[in-house]
Amino acid sequence: MSTDKVQIFDTTLRDGEQVPGCKLDTAQKLVIAQQLDSLGVDVIEAGFPVSSPGDFQSVYEIAKLVKNATVCGLTRAVKNDIKVAAEALQLAKRPRIHTGIGTSDSHIKYKFNATREQVIERGIAAVTYAKSFVEDVEFYAEDAGRTDNEFLARVCEAMIKAGATVLNIPDTTGYCLPEEYGQKIKYLKENVKGIDKVILSCHCHNDLGLATANSIAGVLNGARQIECTINGIGERAGNTSLEEVVMIMKQHPYLDLSTGINSQLLYATSQMVSDHMGMPVQPNKAIVGANAFAHSSGIHQDGVIKNRETYEIMDPAEVGVTESSIVLTARSGRAALAYRAKKVGYELTKLQLDEVYCEFLKFADKKKEIKDTDLHHIMKRTNVAI
Ligand code: KIV
Ligand code: ZN
Repeated sequence: MSTDKVQIFDTTLRDGEQVPGCKLDTAQKLVIAQQLDSLGVDVIEAGFPVSSPGDFQSVYEIAKLVKNATVCGLTRAVKNDIKVAAEALQLAKRPRIHTGIGTSDSHIKYKFNATREQVIERGIAAVTYAKSFVEDVEFYAEDAGRTDNEFLARVCEAMIKAGATVLNIPDTTGYCLPEEYGQKIKYLKENVKGIDKVILSCHCHNDLGLATANSIAGVLNGARQIECTINGIGERAGNTSLEEVVMIMKQHPYLDLSTGINSQLLYATSQMVSDHMGMPVQPNKAIVGANAFAHSSGIHQDGVIKNRETYEIMDPAEVGVTESSIVLTARSGRAALAYRAKKVGYELTKLQLDEVYCEFLKFADKKKEIKDTDLHHIMKRTNVAI
């Protein structure tokens, strides 16, 4: 069956690195960029070259290193930003300049003290100037989530005429509801002249925990690029999480949407980014959290031991996790105890299991989790040998 490809635009090294206290040096960025390229992302946003000499250097080195993905640099709608980004990207096989300007009334009034017309003019000038350096120019309408659709459509039309190849519709403040964000994309698809010549991109922030849902609503309504980060890191509550959107599309094949991501590298990539940034992954994080494939209640454990599909919608191996784990706690039942005991070498008869289970519960009520060392101790107390 043919599916529509959704481009994965990874901004771990730009929007993701805006997390306070998580700065990466050039060597760390190069290691992560290489991993992102192997993971199969379509675009790596390597940084914001004009922001500092270090960021310029990182973008320059990443552009030189990356073999497959498009390498992108962020700019404001400012001539010097664009010139510096073009310099940083000069060695990229596939360079992209990502330029743009705020389009919501509050950005126009408070950030720029300008008019809507002036903002359109600045956008056109930025896209036209970026086009003088590279073919691939992405335009972002910052705060598009709170920009009225009619004006946003005018902005988009003007940027297509100026030569933009991708139009980024950021929900910068993470304010939109999925329905609303999806309708925004649909409105643009239906009302902007020339829209089929460009790719519409979703760039959603997670202030209300809706970044993933909004990005999926966007692609269901015609967007074909998602901007995201590993582990969902980024400004404030973060960006759309790459691993979530990728696995949503993979686990729902009837959507006919696919990506070029090798999902088996997701877990290793998540760990790598977490280690370099010194930012632990929350245990209950979907797909890559320590508990994403851990089962701890007796009812669930019994089901999973009989057949994984009872409580798992994907095979952990698909995301690079070796196997699901059965965690022993006071909520575990006999099936889980027998399963873990067998894993560490004890084949229990029914009678032995009853005895060991009684002893196990006494321990489990006092501890958060029964580890293998505790299990050996319990076996010893009940005279069970390997
Ligand atoms: O959130 C946002 O609007 C951004 C733009 C700069 C693309 O990160
Ligand atoms: Zn952002």
